[in-house]
Amino acid sequence: MTRHLLDLCDAGGDAIAAMINDAIDRKAARAQLPKGASDADRPLEGRVLAMIFEKNSTRTRVSFDMAMRQLGGTSLVMDAASTQLGRGETIADTARVLSRMVDAIMIRTDDHAKAEEMARHATVPVINGLTDRSHPCQIVADLLTVVERRKALPGLEVAWLGDGNNVLHSILEAAGLMKFNVRVATPAGYDPDASFVSEAQAGGARVTLTRDAAEAASGADVVVTDTWVSMGQAHAAEKLAAMAPYQVNAALMRLAKPDAVFLHCLPAHIGEEVTQEVFESAQSAVFDEAENRIHAQKSILLWAFGLL
Ligand code: CP
Ligand code: NVA
Repeated sequence: MTRHLLDLCDAGGDAIAAMINDAIDRKAARAQLPKGASDADRPLEGRVLAMIFEKNSTRTRVSFDMAMRQLGGTSLVMDAASTQLGRGETIADTARVLSRMVDAIMIRTDDHAKAEEMARHATVPVINGLTDRSHPCQIVADLLTVVERRKALPGLEVAWLGDGNNVLHSILEAAGLMKFNVRVATPAGYDPDASFVSEAQAGGARVTLTRDAAEAASGADVVVTDTWVSMGQAHAAEKLAAMAPYQVNAALMRLAKPDAVFLHCLPAHIGEEVTQEVFESAQSAVFDEAENRIHAQKSILLWAFGLL
């Protein structure tokens, strides 16, 4: 059966643990190599990944491309607007054509239903490179970053501050699968989708929803935030005002554990969701997190190809 990764539950907890372990091993094994050199085993030799972008990207685009190169394969980028998708060719036909031409598809889209449609019609793996609903690949990199900082996932206390968005949804999904707890502090009207909360709770995660940033951050092992205005959303003054009490600043970080890690998927808006001081602090792991997108994508690709 073709393996798609539209959400983390498509892989499950055991596969995510395997991805993290594989990423740690591959990262260590190539520590001295130039970034463009391939891993010794070149497990994706001859395979091609097509990447479809309906939205901007730096990390996802470069990390998937570098992941394919390091695994011995190649990638190509399709800017959706300049393909026939941009003129109304259906997702179904695009999926069937690409399945004849390439070995896997990554899609970044403003509508999760389009990624699902792509997976329904593709006969090669389809990977979600961010939708309005979720960002699973980001969270594999985030978990890798947390584990690298010598924190065990089961029982971990993760505080999320700000907008209840796609990144938070994937964190909640991971919490249920990997058995960690999430304290979510969002302003009224910006809660995460309730289905992600109940799914995490059903998986055994403790999820606390609060309007109080300090309550969420107190004693946390990991403090995470993201932009207050995601791609495709209106830049409303009203939303920015509602988010202001949820800024991650030094006072908030002092409430977390002394060795708490700060994460942000990037791009960041310094002075909005995070202060310069926290962003540049020793607790900030944001550039390890960005680099880990490559190492995580490699494990995700290997899993999708049935090689993990
Ligand atoms: N974090 C992330 O997905 O970054 P890009 O939008 O640059 O891909
Ligand atoms: N929540 C952000 C994440 C960007 C990587 C967005 O969807 O724009």
